[in-house]
Amino acid sequence: APAAAAQGTLPAAAAAAPPLSREVTVLFGSQTGNCQRLAASLSRKLEEQGFKVTVSAMNAFKPNTLKKVENLLILVSTHGEGEPPDNARAFHEFLHSKRAPQLESLRFSVLALGDTSYEFFCQTGKDFDERLEQLGGQRLSPRIDCDLDYDEPVADWFEQVLGALNGPQNAPQLADQAVAAAEKADEPQSPYSRNHPFHAEVLENLNLNGRGSDRETRHLELSLAGSGLTFEPGDSLGVYPENHPQLVADIIAAAGWNPDETVPFNKKGEEGTLREALLRHYEITVLTKPLLEQAAKLSGAPGLQALLAPEAQQELKSYIQGRDLLDLITDFGPWNVPASSFVAILRKLPARLYSISSSYNANPEEVHFTVRAVRYESHGRDRYGVCSVHCAERVQPGDTLPVYIQSNPNFKLPANPDVPVIMIGPGTGVAPFRSFLEERGEQGAGGKTWLFYGDRHFVTDFLYQTDWQRMLKEGVLNKLDVAFSRDTEEKVYVQHRILEHSKELFAWLQEGAHMYVCGDEKHMAHDVHAALLTVIQEEAGLSPEGAAAYLENLQQEQRYQRDVY
Ligand code: 2AM
Repeated sequence: APAAAAQGTLPAAAAAAPPLSREVTVLFGSQTGNCQRLAASLSRKLEEQGFKVTVSAMNAFKPNTLKKVENLLILVSTHGEGEPPDNARAFHEFLHSKRAPQLESLRFSVLALGDTSYEFFCQTGKDFDERLEQLGGQRLSPRIDCDLDYDEPVADWFEQVLGALNGPQNAPQLADQAVAAAEKADEPQSPYSRNHPFHAEVLENLNLNGRGSDRETRHLELSLAGSGLTFEPGDSLGVYPENHPQLVADIIAAAGWNPDETVPFNKKGEEGTLREALLRHYEITVLTKPLLEQAAKLSGAPGLQALLAPEAQQELKSYIQGRDLLDLITDFGPWNVPASSFVAILRKLPARLYSISSSYNANPEEVHFTVRAVRYESHGRDRYGVCSVHCAERVQPGDTLPVYIQSNPNFKLPANPDVPVIMIGPGTGVAPFRSFLEERGEQGAGGKTWLFYGDRHFVTDFLYQTDWQRMLKEGVLNKLDVAFSRDTEEKVYVQHRILEHSKELFAWLQEGAHMYVCGDEKHMAHDVHAALLTVIQEEAGLSPEGAAAYLENLQQEQRYQRDVY
């Protein structure tokens, strides 16, 4: 369940307070666009109520104007090991540096998006909240930390913020509307959205890897006919998967429940069989601390209590890692708990986001995406990525998948088709670049294009090879550099190709090229970033700090965009 941070003090009763400033600054830090959308929606609401609103990405905000801000609302997500989104990084650093001003006249509130299955849950939001207080700011309303299913806590935060700024009249209703509007903002032409997915017919489902590959990457094509859904290159597809039927059956058997028993699907009063609930409605493959805490209340198993003791934090962390609900149920049984009470503590099964790999203009009323089947072993049992293995094993042409479009304003082709683009996308990270290039082909765009691609083996793992070859021939793709890591004694990765082409790559940047990185964040995107710094340092003759500033500036100008996960 979403956790609301009960920190901080509410301002004095509105009646007693002096008239408040009607100027509000809304700053967002957003990687996949959620905070950006919510910020835009909140701002519209505030404007309708007569506030003068300045809304901005954190990296587009001049930090030296912060001293003049009276009301500051921050919406920010957290990534990886507690890191800020790309467009929040510099502001986060500034606030935590000695350059940060005292902010005694500031009133603020923070909305933090995150995921309780990560250790550093909502860390970036917590950082801002704590730091603004340290600098002298007063909270308008307490910070709220949201888990994946954020609609309700976001509405609560909107309500509290609107109430604090405006007096409590009508605030609840307005807040609900604003959250609904944020969701609709993505899809003005369509009745379908994250909360109302479209059941799209599967037209194709192909394995892109050749025989003998140790990988399985599926290319799926879905029909959007009749949905009104459209998208732009760079957008993502949200897919609601089904859990593995065997895992569902094993959980039900281990707990001694009846699969046909009726249980709630959600808090909205929908219900159905337990089997159905665990297949389609609840998350069963991830353990979180809040889940274990709730489970401990239900079971009272001493082992589970011990794991949650304050001194057992390390044990808890390592227990949660790589385990699922079946482990929890077998390790801490017997569970004399009705299935309906148990499912009530589970998280809603979240949609998975995939970078769309087709252009809508090139393939009207269709959407393509690319998904690599995740299979591994942990704690003595085979484990399966929920959505990827569902797509790989249990989805055939003619079936439907519940989907929605999530626009990504931070991963967009340059508006001018004559601007060159550099695309770096090993593995499934290449998906959005198929969309980019198809779109450029449709536009008859003049700008040069350059793709860096890498995977394990040339023969079996060259995703979309024939597409790239056709695009090269047609002149839609101008340069292709590949790095197959396991064909040679020594590993070659995309960043090695980047370094080999240092001079030319820098020349493209100087010509105004936009650069895109998609794929693995922890290793690849990090190493690619370092390689880009090296290129800039060497070719521009800059210091390491100078190169960092150059790249930071590119990011600021949206000429260096990343879609990393
Ligand atoms: P590897 O599995 O042989 O190490 C797509 O998964 C490709 O990305 C694979 O060729 C993989 O190589 C490669 N890869 C792994 N780590 C990487 C890193 N740090 N930087 C760039 N590519 C990497």
